[in-house]
Amino acid sequence: MADHKPIQPPTGTRDLYPVEAARRRFITEAWRRASINHGFEEVDGPTFESTELYTKKSGDGIVSEIFGVFSGKDEQGVKALGEKLARGEDAPAPYALRPEFTPTLARMYAARAASLPKPTKWFTAGPFFRAERPQRGRLREFLQWNCDVIGLALPEKPTPEDIARATAQGDAEVIACCVGLLEQLGLTGADYSIAINDRRLLASALRATGVSEADLSAAIALIDQETKLDLHEWNRRAQPLNLSLIRVAQATDLVQAALQEFGRSRRVSEDAAAILQRGGLDAGSLFYLWKQLDSAGVLDRCHFKPDLARGLAYYTGMVFEVIVDGERAVAGGGRYDNLIELFGGPSTPAVGFGMGDVVLSLVLQDKGLMPSDAELMQIAGQSPDVFVISNGTPEADAALPSVLADLRRGSREQRGRDALHARRTSKTTKNVGKLLQEAEKSGAHFVAIVESAGEVTLKNLRTREQDQSKTPIASLKAEVLKRLGRTGA
Ligand code: HAM
Repeated sequence: MADHKPIQPPTGTRDLYPVEAARRRFITEAWRRASINHGFEEVDGPTFESTELYTKKSGDGIVSEIFGVFSGKDEQGVKALGEKLARGEDAPAPYALRPEFTPTLARMYAARAASLPKPTKWFTAGPFFRAERPQRGRLREFLQWNCDVIGLALPEKPTPEDIARATAQGDAEVIACCVGLLEQLGLTGADYSIAINDRRLLASALRATGVSEADLSAAIALIDQETKLDLHEWNRRAQPLNLSLIRVAQATDLVQAALQEFGRSRRVSEDAAAILQRGGLDAGSLFYLWKQLDSAGVLDRCHFKPDLARGLAYYTGMVFEVIVDGERAVAGGGRYDNLIELFGGPSTPAVGFGMGDVVLSLVLQDKGLMPSDAELMQIAGQSPDVFVISNGTPEADAALPSVLADLRRGSREQRGRDALHARRTSKTTKNVGKLLQEAEKSGAHFVAIVESAGEVTLKNLRTREQDQSKTPIASLKAEVLKRLGRTGA
């Protein structure tokens, strides 16, 4: 007998029924709008890549979370890997489900660098996979939106100041795009904050507090683990590295004070600048950034966080995270100036961020900013423009299929924008009252009651107004398009 035990979806994945799919569409549309409005162009890459792409520079954290992919056709390869694993050897799968986009973006940019403008601004949104322990805000398959600014627009012979200014401008641009999205969804400065640091400043603070050059990357990786490990374990690992977060905070006290002073007075006192320079702290770029964030009108959302490290190994400068109290980071990003070169391209500075849909949805729901199910269906274009019903006469019944087909037809000239979302009942009832109820429930904007072979009565279900006169079937579509404000779209 057949085994009818249901097969569950894999841990950390989601089945999206219509309302959940509409919720996802609501978020992806907002991502798309924000990135296009901020001048980013859409790109995408494969959802699985050579594992090597991630072992190059993403760092141990993300590599340990890779879902390996094997080709079922490569029997020899799979067998050889199996044998290696059986001997206890390290044997990564040849391919990996993409855990992030940045390496793909660096590879894509490197391949066409010569013909791409400076800066190039790309965005993408799609599914990513990490074999993390599923928990609030973290799943094994999630959507991630990425916005990246690659390359700097510089004069022919740039001064260090030109470079610093253009760098800060790129950094501020991605942060402003991220803020643009959050605001568009109704989140205000009271709901979230953007924590910012600079890897160079962090490195100089670590050196100043006694971490050796050889231990720097291990110390930075461990700082990122602070909230993930228990305190005892964290301290046990920090001790041999000579790592202390208190000392890092002390070492950057003055940067904190000077940035706050900038926030108040829009200038950095000469005293602070001189002391920072003497202290050997690499804080200059943060002041350029603060200026740019101020010009972009987002400085009041940002704060300096001296122990923000970020887990990925490729960051070289500014790093940031969008923080909402009590939640995992909503978004995170930073500057990675060496990655494109590492993938065979010319030396090209770049900066960007990724935002997942999981924490964002939780935050929107908690703050009452997620639209209702009915609104979501409407926003996702799932509510019909017209629900067509028959008045029950044989002539109307016969005319209904062609009325429906005509409403749904889109012209090539209009690239289908004149096609309407039209539905009919799939029930057998001829009771007009019941059919009107069904139309109402579907969220339709208009109902068209076919009265005869040639005429319909139109009713606007949003305003509840019903036409006093009938509309000829021949002009129904033009009339609905006009009332929807979609004429000549
Ligand atoms: P990340 O910090 O690893 O950075 O991820 C960015 C965001 O993706 C997180 O803040 C979170 O919203 C979401 N995310 C990450 N892992 C999960 C998960 N398991 N479940 C749900 N959401 C998750 C990066 O991926 C960088 N590549 C971002 C970047 C782009 N940096 C420069 N450009």
